[in-house]
Amino acid sequence: MRGAGRVVIANGPNLNALGTREPDIYGRQTLADIRAMVDARAEELGWTVSFFQSNHEGELIDRIQRESPEAIGVIINPGALTHYSYALYDCLRSIAAPVVEVHLSNLFARTEPYRQTSVTAPAAAGFISGFGGRGYILAMEYLSAVYE
Ligand code: DQA
Repeated sequence: MRGAGRVVIANGPNLNALGTREPDIYGRQTLADIRAMVDARAEELGWTVSFFQSNHEGELIDRIQRESPEAIGVIINPGALTHYSYALYDCLRSIAAPVVEVHLSNLFARTEPYRQTSVTAPAAAGFISGFGGRGYILAMEYLSAVYE
């Protein structure tokens, strides 16, 4: 077990609907299922987790600004904000903690061309896309590797 780390995991618009929302694209895991996986890995790492979802851009920004100073890293699935939110991009750039952007689906395999652009990813240390809920765990593995 590692030392006490706190990780912020932020989920953007419509991710509260996982499980029933386009399951052929996003799978049948609910956000609560993903949270349970995250909590299990966090316990092994000796970390605490602030895991939240909001449909509101400003609320996501408020919480990231408020909570990131205490965090070893921020994992974010910005949902559709990925594709157009310069406000979220500015927020992610402004914080000291490393950011990992996660998407359940493989954005580059999606049919809508706009999904193949992330305006937020340039503010992140890296980008994980296409591994469903496991992407959140992979992001935690990255943060655990760089955290000391
Ligand atoms: C998503 C991909 C986005 O394009 C979409 O708007 C989402 C979910 C994903 O996890 O694959 O809401 O971020």
